[in-house]
Amino acid sequence: MNILRIGYLDCLGQLTVVGDISKEDFSKRFEFIKYHSDSYHPYVITDEADKIVAAGTLLIEKKFIRNLGTCGHIEDIVVDFRQRGKNLGKILLQALKELAIELGCYKVILDCEEGKVQFYEKCGFKEKGRQMAFYK
Ligand SMILES: CC(C)(COP(=O)(O)OP(=O)(O)OC[C@H]1O[C@@H](n2cnc3c(N)ncnc32)[C@H](O)[C@@H]1OP(=O)(O)O)[C@@H](O)C(=O)NCCC(=O)NCCS
Repeated sequence: MNILRIGYLDCLGQLTVVGDISKEDFSKRFEFIKYHSDSYHPYVITDEADKIVAAGTLLIEKKFIRNLGTCGHIEDIVVDFRQRGKNLGKILLQALKELAIELGCYKVILDCEEGKVQFYEKCGFKEKGRQMAFYK
């Protein structure tokens, strides 16, 4: 578990605000995700020193619609700034998409900002609809 912590929060911190997370709180959240491992599928890429340099998560949503369909949500995609431009983002997305298909998802969706549309298109996604958000 400590291995997972190496570089993980650093990576996520390059995506958004992570906050000041203690080791204990990190472990609790890690155990929660592990317990719900049928829904949460965090993937990481590590370097030669086992440091996490890219991360992304597939979340599985079980629906009633679409004949009890399963939808995949891709969340929190990030590649360490020192490792960008080496196809790691593309490789990560490909792996998460393949996992989604394996798990029976009829679609995989994600939200992104305008400047990332081309990146996701290169990973095989198409722009569809608009994103809405409510923050507390
Ligand atoms: C977006 C991000 C994940 C891309 O990771 P990466 O490993 O550098 O991307 P890749 O090297 O796999 O690029 C794959 C392709 O997308 C292109 N690409 C990557 N980022 C791009 C961007 N911002 N705009 C346009 N094209 C982009 C690359 O040129 C490459 O094209 P090619 O296949 O024709 O050579 C990375 O820049 C990042 O972590 N950014 C900060 C966090 C973030 O914004 N995450 C996305 C949240 S929605």
